[in-house]
Amino acid sequence: MIEKRALKKINLSQNKWLIGASEYGFTEKKNRSIFRKISIIPRVLNGISDIKLKKKFFDKEIKIPLIVAPMGGLSQFDKKAELKIASSCKDNQIPYFHSNYSRYSIREIKVKNNNLDFINISLYLDNNLSFIKKKINECNTLGLNTISITVDSPIRSISYDKLNYGYDARTKMRKISKELRSELLREKLGPINWNTIRKIRRLTNKPIILKGILSYKDALIAEDIGVDAIWVSNHGGRSSETDLTSLEVLPRIKSKLKKKTIIICDGGIRTGSDFVKTLSLGADFVAVGRPIVHALISDKNSGLDIYFKLMEEELKTACILSGVDKINNLKNIDLKTHF
Ligand SMILES: Cc1cc2nc3c(=O)[nH]c(=O)nc-3n(C[C@H](O)[C@H](O)[C@H](O)COP(=O)(O)O)c2cc1C
Repeated sequence: MIEKRALKKINLSQNKWLIGASEYGFTEKKNRSIFRKISIIPRVLNGISDIKLKKKFFDKEIKIPLIVAPMGGLSQFDKKAELKIASSCKDNQIPYFHSNYSRYSIREIKVKNNNLDFINISLYLDNNLSFIKKKINECNTLGLNTISITVDSPIRSISYDKLNYGYDARTKMRKISKELRSELLREKLGPINWNTIRKIRRLTNKPIILKGILSYKDALIAEDIGVDAIWVSNHGGRSSETDLTSLEVLPRIKSKLKKKTIIICDGGIRTGSDFVKTLSLGADFVAVGRPIVHALISDKNSGLDIYFKLMEEELKTACILSGVDKINNLKNIDLKTHF
């Protein structure tokens, strides 16, 4: 619904870039259709009329267990996109992960937004460790909440839609910082390995999140290194056409982790019932990507606030109808999975 509204405001090739994914985009489609293979068994006469959705995300109390996933290149849709998302997230107490492929640096976000409440940084890894060090030092001094490192995209992937529509988002970004431009020009992602993460772990006491984990074996290595949270994700199907969704691997990852490592999960999550399914399969938090951009495009002033309110209501309804009175009890609900 939000996407339909947004489509009236942007052209088809722009939307194809936004919704697009790797190769034919089968993984992205599966990210959404997998939810049709999980059924919630409703509970009746449970006497529940309300539920508190607040939860702690590290040291911050957040309104609902929803996180805004990092997305680069958003200034092509609204030149103040990142500022608007940061500001709405602050107002709605929702964590926002700021991609370093953005028009505004984290420092600018802090200045324009007055503080960094609910703002987290998301970094891509490349073989220039000094750039990463600089960014992490900045996070340390600015007092940022957490640092997420994206590990699933060491190489740019091919999207047939992008080729067919001849649309290169990077050329449409209104302004990118000199620093970022040189990073983009270099485009030498990799070689990186677990030692890089070990080094980064030594650089900061801030919570570190590894984004883009699908194998429980990788999750265990990350846990051993002292990573604080695992972000189960296939990058919205934009990285690799694996046909493997986060939901299919989530229960296994959850059961294998040895410590109380936090799990964030994303990919195709759209509605309150999708939230309930993801949280009951083992995630502590769900993250969303594309709907945030569609919400912003559909109404540049209040689209995001409306979206967050809607998600809060949908999640509340889905929880109550599933017989849950506490958000942390979602893990006990009756689910039937068909995969
Ligand atoms: C336009 C766009 C840009 C993205 N840029 C980044 C990025 O800079 N860093 C990153 O880790 N993930 C990036 N992602 C992936 C998202 O963080 C997230 O994993 C994915 O969008 C979740 O799936 P969903 O869009 O179906 O909710 C991007 C996704 C989109 C759609």
